[in-house]
Amino acid sequence: MIALGCDHGGFELKQEIIKHLKDKGVPYKDYGTYTEDSCDYPVYAKKVAEAVLSKECEFGILICGTGIGISIAANRMKGIRAALCHDCFSAEATRLHNDANILAMGGRVIGPGHALKIVDTFLNTPFSKDERHVRRINLIED
Ligand code: RB5
Repeated sequence: MIALGCDHGGFELKQEIIKHLKDKGVPYKDYGTYTEDSCDYPVYAKKVAEAVLSKECEFGILICGTGIGISIAANRMKGIRAALCHDCFSAEATRLHNDANILAMGGRVIGPGHALKIVDTFLNTPFSKDERHVRRINLIED
């Protein structure tokens, strides 16, 4: 299950991601926002982070205008590793090296074609489990 969240700046891209996940048969839960009305991104960052931390969802995807505010907010939650990625190399590397559990993107930064490739890369790349990466993640969590 993938947890989705956005503010008004990420609403349009989130709709594209929902369509994409539906087409691929990937289960998701949409934690809002559900309209383009102005709203506060930390609210949705927290909802998605809680869904991931409780293990209700394996991964989260968060989108605001830039992806910055919503990733900063999510990363305040212990155990969350939210990675702001606007390219496939970073999306792959953050899964391999950081075991990132949330992908953040900016709906005003990137187009849907590229964003959907980034989503697929993030969701389909396993954590490497290399000892050095496990050690570094544990140093973050300590
Ligand atoms: C909202 O206008 C905008 O500030 C927000 O979506 C995001 O870009 C914040 O980092």
